Amino acid sequence: MSMDALKKAAAHRAVEFIQSNTVVGLGHGSTTAFAIEKLASLLQSGELEDIVAIPCSLEVEAHARRLGIPLTTLEDHPRIDLTIDGADEVDPEMNLIKGGGGALLREKIVACASQREIIIVDESKLSEKLGTHFALPVEVVPFAWTVEKRFIEGLGAEVTRRGGHTPFLTDQRNVILDCRFPPISDAPRLALLLNNRAGVVEHGLFIDLATDLIVASASGVRHVRKVEESMDTKRP
Ligand code: A5P
Repeated sequence: MSMDALKKAAAHRAVEFIQSNTVVGLGHGSTTAFAIEKLASLLQSGELEDIVAIPCSLEVEAHARRLGIPLTTLEDHPRIDLTIDGADEVDPEMNLIKGGGGALLREKIVACASQREIIIVDESKLSEKLGTHFALPVEVVPFAWTVEKRFIEGLGAEVTRRGGHTPFLTDQRNVILDCRFPPISDAPRLALLLNNRAGVVEHGLFIDLATDLIVASASGVRHVRKVEESMDTKRP
């Protein structure tokens, strides 16, 4: 099976959880793009109706608009029923590294506003420890990027500014530092250190935000739902 076939299989499984008359969050990335296309076709055929969607990036907004998916905003719908998003790395606790596409800030805002956050990946994204395969993206304000780079290097990472001399800019016009850590032994602690740092707008560690994981592999599609008593207290 090709990588695209795996991504599509995971995406289509996730779309089965969307119900009519709900608010849906649309994540950014090549895997989620398959879910967006499937959602559009179900709306067109009438199998789903009365959906409004909140896109996690300007690129996704344009894609969804082209496909005729009705869009809304967090102002009008602060509570999202279900979000479908991809990830760059997933650990056994369903903690994530995200931000490979640069949309981590809006993705995290949307995840925090979502009752259910379904993460769709192919099996290559799974690892025992975050940081094993993927550098951690950290969004910082351009004014501060050199001092944030030094700060994060002090935490043990090799840090590069995405785009080099022509920096990649996020939808918020910030820059991304890609931070290559050794496999991260305590991701929640690293998340707190980054949360507390002025100049860091957001980071790609998504701790306890995913509620569901859908993994596609050559042997099939697996769905795991995280059930935690405390989960409800974190949901809108
Ligand atoms: C976007 O900023 C990321 O968080 C994506 O969700 C992530 O990079 C997954 O993208 P792919 O589905 O293209 O691998």
